[in-house]
Amino acid sequence: MNNEGIQGVFPTMATALQPLSQPAKGKARSEKDTAYSPLASVWFGDDAELIDRLLDFYPRKRPRKILDATVNGGRFWRGSKRHVIGMDVDGRHRPSVVADNTAMPLRDGSLDVIVYDPPHIPNQGRDNKKDFGARFGLVLRSPKENQYTFTHTFPPFVREAYRVLKEEGLLLCKITDYVHHHRYQWAHIELISAAREVGFMPCDCIVKIRKGPIIDPKWKTAHHSRRQHCYWIVFRKSKKCE
Ligand SMILES: C[S@@+](CC[C@H](N)C(=O)[O-])C[C@H]1O[C@@H](n2cnc3c(N)ncnc32)[C@H](O)[C@@H]1O
Repeated sequence: MNNEGIQGVFPTMATALQPLSQPAKGKARSEKDTAYSPLASVWFGDDAELIDRLLDFYPRKRPRKILDATVNGGRFWRGSKRHVIGMDVDGRHRPSVVADNTAMPLRDGSLDVIVYDPPHIPNQGRDNKKDFGARFGLVLRSPKENQYTFTHTFPPFVREAYRVLKEEGLLLCKITDYVHHHRYQWAHIELISAAREVGFMPCDCIVKIRKGPIIDPKWKTAHHSRRQHCYWIVFRKSKKCE
């Protein structure tokens, strides 16, 4: 087991943790031998390919300590050679560390990148064909006092993310707006507001096109457009983006 990416991150449990993937073999990338290649603001491929591009594009130097703070089954890292620590509050997904991302057992300023893909679409009906609950952790319940949304989880998460990231570190968030109880839920706006509040600089936004919309099977007719995209928002723990 190679714990290279874990050392210095966890105060007490470094040796007990398994990385999700092994570090890339061979020479580390340096800024000098990387040619600039522009990145389009609309992405039609899958998340894993996009994350790989983001991790080449935005960091000022090759990121070594990467945390997926909502790792679930680790779909973002399939086929990846990057060394990633996977965190999830639900131990059934067998993450590297079982923890709540609003109270992470990590040192201040210990990470280069955090990836975040929070649950969305609270309290939805079951779509047996797609089984979103089991695959994506989408069926956590949200109480009425939180307007049935998960946006109340953003402020404690971004505060923690800010604490554990190094200066200039990146927070990459996949966020989906959705319609719930016949109301548009502006999740990406809520996230940006919460992140700004704790000091993050929102630096970029990529629209990722989904193959098909997520449709609550209970509602055949809804006078809102079907969500067929989500956003990847790029934040930097910095006063500037470039
Ligand atoms: C949408 S899924 C992530 C899917 C993952 N990106 C993938 O592609 O496999 C959200 C995950 O966040 C986890 N989660 C929810 N609240 C959390 C918290 N407070 N701390 C850590 N993980 C949490 C859920 O257990 C679920 O596995």
